[in-house]
Amino acid sequence: MALLEIRNIVRRFGDFTAVDGVSMSIESGEFFTLLGPSGCGKTTLLRMIAGFDSPQSGEILLEGRDLISTPPEKRPIHTVFQNYALFPHMTVAENIAFPLKMKKIGKDEIRERVRESLEDVRLADRGGRYPDELSGGQRQRVALARALVNRPRLLLLDEPLAALDMKLREQMQIELINLQREVGITFIYVTHDQTEALALSHRIAVMNGGRVEQLDEPSKIYDSPKNRFVADFIGTCNLIEAEVSAAGEEKMVLEIKGLGEVTAKNPGNAASGKKGILALRPEKIRIAAKLSPGMEENHFKGRVHDFLYMGDVTVYIVEIGEGVHIEALLPNSAAGRPKILEKGDPVEISWRYDAGSFLDE
Ligand SMILES: Nc1ncnc2c1ncn2[C@@H]1O[C@H](COP(=O)(O)OP(=O)(O)OP(=O)(O)O)[C@@H](O)[C@H]1O
Ligand SMILES: [Mg+2]
Repeated sequence: MALLEIRNIVRRFGDFTAVDGVSMSIESGEFFTLLGPSGCGKTTLLRMIAGFDSPQSGEILLEGRDLISTPPEKRPIHTVFQNYALFPHMTVAENIAFPLKMKKIGKDEIRERVRESLEDVRLADRGGRYPDELSGGQRQRVALARALVNRPRLLLLDEPLAALDMKLREQMQIELINLQREVGITFIYVTHDQTEALALSHRIAVMNGGRVEQLDEPSKIYDSPKNRFVADFIGTCNLIEAEVSAAGEEKMVLEIKGLGEVTAKNPGNAASGKKGILALRPEKIRIAAKLSPGMEENHFKGRVHDFLYMGDVTVYIVEIGEGVHIEALLPNSAAGRPKILEKGDPVEISWRYDAGSFLDE
């Protein structure tokens, strides 16, 4: 049985529907992420799981038992918000002990559990400090320790790293993965940052306009986006208007305006005349002054329209055919690499027929 089962949840504010029939089931021990743009309903959904808000319809079950009728303080769930509030006049240890004191737990047990929690977040030597004597990352870890001290079944985290700078964020991401693995508590993590979601999660629900667009493992979301929204939202993707001109069982031919024919993988249901989009990741495209394309590859000649030197890679925008622009990536592993191709240079690109996906929605 799933730990948390969400069935067809709807939440309206007046005539605006913030959560529009969301269903998902979350397994025990999972690091599950809700990912989507601002306003897509992530926090609203989290608040209903926590019990701070109720849906107009639908069900939320924890281990098969109804949760909606359970008040928030009776749910074995804890939430860490973006603006985690530590009490400034209490030490780190007192901050962490606070939820236990509220529960009237004995002194000795509190001391033991605070010690364990501090160890969980590797702050064992900082219990006597005050919050303003800590770095941003350490404060965030205290907030996590306080959330874990009650050993909730489910920890909800609403953009907990949003306030941190990039270096610290990356460090905290690694710590979060390790922490979740060690304590074995199920996490539901909210973010609008797709790299963060890909790095942290066992599974991701990509949300848009109150709905789930795709629910899958990170690699599936990245490699096989289900529709245009997911392809565009996750990473960088060439989205090229195309029409099926001939369809076989495994392969098909797409007609692209201004370019001509390309071979692509048949998603299974494409028939001649169907219109859609070829979604192609820039790193799946080979680019060089001269290429010898393989049998299974599409191959075109074009010109460097523009490029962007990013340090580790250079992004090339290549004009092929009539006004068709395709983005391709070249890693800068060899010295002087970014100088190989200049604006206006003739260039060749190629990609395997199965490098992209044809999306018809
Ligand atoms: N109490 C409320 N009354 C009216 N509208 C609300 C209320 N709470 C949320 N909304 C609306 O519901 C939509 C979803 O809000 P929500 O806070 O869930 O978005 P989000 O995905 O968490 O966005 P962000 O990434 O910016 O935090 C928004 O359009 C918001 O304005
Ligand atoms: Mg939010």
